[in-house]
Amino acid sequence: MAEKQTLATWYDEKYGKMPNASLFEQLGGTAAVDAAVDIFYRKVLGDDRINRFFEGVDMEKQAAKQKAFLTMAFGGPHNYTGQDMRKGHAHLVKQGLNDGHFDAVVENLGATLKELGVAGNLIGQVAAIAESTRNDVLGR
Ligand code: HEM
Repeated sequence: MAEKQTLATWYDEKYGKMPNASLFEQLGGTAAVDAAVDIFYRKVLGDDRINRFFEGVDMEKQAAKQKAFLTMAFGGPHNYTGQDMRKGHAHLVKQGLNDGHFDAVVENLGATLKELGVAGNLIGQVAAIAESTRNDVLGR
């Protein structure tokens, strides 16, 4: 059975992605988040600059958190505010979380999307969203 047709899927088949689709839709929505989770997490855990922050984190809950992270970075629907980001990372700031660590996460995110064949301009938009959370994540 073919996927249910909507105006957007009809347009996509005929002309390519709708230019006014949201960033989240242009990236492929939840399916794109699912595809990116494993690659991203593997990169983060393999990165000696930042993997210590993930030690002792509940692995079962981690998949859901990774999805929440990616949905947010992709500009999709999420329930987090700046205040939540501050609270969620405060214990890491106490352990020394800084700009260099933040840069490393953004770098791993970009590398993940590149590996998935995402266009450079969309990767730039994702990086800009991640960037907008920097001061909250770093607690300043
Ligand atoms: C790029 C900006 C970032 C965003 C949008 C983001 C987003 C999130 C979200 C949504 C959660 C789940 C919060 C919850 O519901 O508990 C989370 C948790 C977490 N984040 Fe981030 N994050 C960012 C940067 C970072 C950085 C730079 C690090 C460390 C290098 C980091 C490490 C963690 C860890 C370890 C957790 C799990 C905390 C725990 O369960 O103890 N995050 N993040």
